[in-house]
Amino acid sequence: MILLFLSDVDSAADWQAELGKLLPELELRVWPDIGDPTEIDAALVWRPPPGLLDQLPNLKLIISLGAGVDHILADPSLPPGIPILRLVDPYMTVAMSEYVQLQVLRLHRQDLIYRAQQQARVWRPLPQPNAAERRVGMLGLGVLGGAAALCLKVLGFNVAGWCRTERKLPGIPAFHGADGLAALLERSEILVCLLPLTPATAGILDARLFAGLPRGAAIVNCARGAHLVEADLLAALDNGQISAAVLDVFGDEPLPQQHPFWRHPRILITPHVAAATHPPTAAAAVADNLRRLRQGRPFLNRVDVSMRY
Ligand code: NAP
Ligand code: GLV
Repeated sequence: MILLFLSDVDSAADWQAELGKLLPELELRVWPDIGDPTEIDAALVWRPPPGLLDQLPNLKLIISLGAGVDHILADPSLPPGIPILRLVDPYMTVAMSEYVQLQVLRLHRQDLIYRAQQQARVWRPLPQPNAAERRVGMLGLGVLGGAAALCLKVLGFNVAGWCRTERKLPGIPAFHGADGLAALLERSEILVCLLPLTPATAGILDARLFAGLPRGAAIVNCARGAHLVEADLLAALDNGQISAAVLDVFGDEPLPQQHPFWRHPRILITPHVAAATHPPTAAAAVADNLRRLRQGRPFLNRVDVSMRY
């Protein structure tokens, strides 16, 4: 079996080493040295250039190098009917839960204000609510959002979530649909976004959504940059509707040097690292699906293309 590997952020050498241990017979062709395109059976990709996958006439499977598949579905000439799989890796799930807990705790304990006070040599203790009194909302209760919500619950936060369909998570009220969103927002002093990027969720973090939150709420976006309407966030920070934002993802990555987010005192930036893909663990999931391809068995974590996630 021949697998095309294409990514500008993942190491081909690491993937070659990890997949080689699990599937010694697999041949990896690293873009752009793909040889004869008719020989490629499957593609393991991050942000493939539009049109590329359509040039592989015998392609049978597309696997995302990340949990999200928006970077694949954005290709207008994606060959139809080929299964698209997303990455689900317990290591990634734990990493995302770590990130969410870190940032929610940082906001809950007003760390941005204490850092600013330190810069100004100000000694001013602030009111300190308990985690049980802090209402946290999670947009998206899938593999990553669901796990992170449960971790926040274990830390003692008053957590609720929102998803598309009706779902049950132990001890976590789950809202769904448009009415459900309003109800979640109203009770979210800290709102975390872990939605997939789809036509239904693009731009969801906008002025309208911010207005539905309690005044002074904070947001964490660790899903996709295009969930956020950047100008609306800057306006909401200016007028005090939003008190702080932690952003891991951006419409334009790397975030351009002149972007106003860099120097904003109430925006905390990380460079799309909330949950990196980790070849030593992720390779097992990829190898499993490649074996399924060879044996004609059903795939795991197949994307519903009609739902875009
Ligand atoms: P997932 O398992 O597919 O879960 C998606 C969740 O979003 C589900 O609960 C789903 O609802 C909900 N949802 C989808 N469309 C919705 C809509 N229109 N309205 C309300 N809820 C909706 O995805 P995941 O594995 O948790 O990953 C989420 C996203 O995290 C990825 O797509 C990716 O963009 C991002 N991510 C970021 C990083 C990083 O480092 N920053 C790393 C990994 C992933 P249902 O439960 O009802 O289906
Ligand atoms: C990273 O952003 C991912 O989708 O895994």
